[in-house]
Amino acid sequence: MKILKPLSLLLLLFSLSVSAQIRVAVHESEPGPVIPKEIYGQFSEHLGRCIYDGIWVGPESSVPNVDGYRQDVLEALKALKVPVLRWPGGCFADEYHWRDGIGPRESRPRMINSNWGGTVEDNSFGTHEFLNLCEMLGTEPYISGNVGSGSVEELAKWVEYMTAKGGTMAEERAANGRKEPWKVKYLGIGNESWGCGGNMTPEFYADQYRRYATYCRDYDGNHLYKVASGASDYDYNWTKVLMEKVGRQAAAVSLHYYTITDWNHKGSATDFTDGEYYDIIAKSLEIEEVLRNHEHIMDTYDPERKIDLLLDEWGTWFDVEPGTNPGHLFQQNSMRDALVAALSLNIFNKHTTRLKMANIAQIVNVLQSMVLTRGDKMLLTPTYHVFRMYSGHQDAVAVPVDFSCDTLQAPSGRLYPTFSVSASKSKDSKMLVTLANPCLDKPQTVTLAFDAYRPGTVSGEILHAADIRAHNTFDKPQQVAPKSFTGYKVSGRTVTVTLPPASVVALTL
Ligand code: AHR
Repeated sequence: MKILKPLSLLLLLFSLSVSAQIRVAVHESEPGPVIPKEIYGQFSEHLGRCIYDGIWVGPESSVPNVDGYRQDVLEALKALKVPVLRWPGGCFADEYHWRDGIGPRESRPRMINSNWGGTVEDNSFGTHEFLNLCEMLGTEPYISGNVGSGSVEELAKWVEYMTAKGGTMAEERAANGRKEPWKVKYLGIGNESWGCGGNMTPEFYADQYRRYATYCRDYDGNHLYKVASGASDYDYNWTKVLMEKVGRQAAAVSLHYYTITDWNHKGSATDFTDGEYYDIIAKSLEIEEVLRNHEHIMDTYDPERKIDLLLDEWGTWFDVEPGTNPGHLFQQNSMRDALVAALSLNIFNKHTTRLKMANIAQIVNVLQSMVLTRGDKMLLTPTYHVFRMYSGHQDAVAVPVDFSCDTLQAPSGRLYPTFSVSASKSKDSKMLVTLANPCLDKPQTVTLAFDAYRPGTVSGEILHAADIRAHNTFDKPQQVAPKSFTGYKVSGRTVTVTLPPASVVALTL
């Protein structure tokens, strides 16, 4: 453990002296909007070992697989109820030519993945492999189209190949083993077009969007939901120009926000000071302000909220694990990542009148992953456990909550609240309340006070580790795992919960 800097010590002493009694008014009698299941979405890119090794090992592999897909990963992802999966990138999408990834695998061309470590890509995982995976997982596919280096015709034909019943594209698809078209709803028109997707100005991109989107057609009952490639972080002008020049021609505009405190010194995923922990927590929470600002711009142009906002990349981004390819973005995942996930998802649950999707980056072996693999071994990360504990929020009706808590200052100067909560009610009338205590040194006692509801049976799960740096390894894959939670007391219309320091709790009532 590293030595605390004087400022961190000061903050620590301050935080220890702060009272930790929080009252949350839960307005179950005033239902909010539905939390779209897509808020719990995922992202998979041809990057490092996300696709190859992570999802796809090929049918000849000694790693147990189902038609080439890793069996362990398939099972873990099925249990997670992945609602939507974005593919093939990321930056990779704007250099991807879909025709390279169809037909007999042995004759597919090999390309250099110049965005990500110069790795040779053999295209053995392509359109069929991806869309069949989505069917196996019961997941909506989200295709990211190539605008940066591909043509309008190429993207238009890809849509036809995937979704049309008749015509030459459909015949070619059938010859490649798939007679029936797939259903593809989400179509991204480019990715990060301000950067790796073509270094465009927003005005130029807006025109490109209109051109590409025009020729991506709806075939045979398939209805495309087209996504304009949106801003990064604080680039509010990009959103403004898209709203002005693209407007209702897009079903949604996207946004990317990564939790990075310093691009030149991202820091280790597992070896960090308490001060660095609070800096990451505070930076991750800044997403709320960023969402609000983009939403505000969108409201100016679209007060009826017809155009959605999709946060189609988010998550922590640390230094790669020592000894791994810097271009492969392979990072460990600690209890700190679990807190970032829990706090972020509680925020997203409250923004769903505009925010309709969020895809964490990325599903396997890249950045803030759900699972990590090595050879034939796989582990579930702390972030996986949070997504699983929160999965009851998918398509449930949000339940408004009101509370106030202390706000502290991280060493960076950013502020963070000392408590976070969101609640929802599912179709089968179960209420899920997800709570997080980001403080490292003090428990929080929280009283949930319902409008009228008297909780009967309550069940709880907790994710907690004595050390915030705790993480799962291939030798010790259960270091951070959810446990049953009994630290609550029901009395009339209230439930009083004691959250240990640095913990995430899910209560089902
Ligand atoms: O997720 C890694 C990369 O981050 C994506 O390829 C890109 O869109 C973003 O910059």
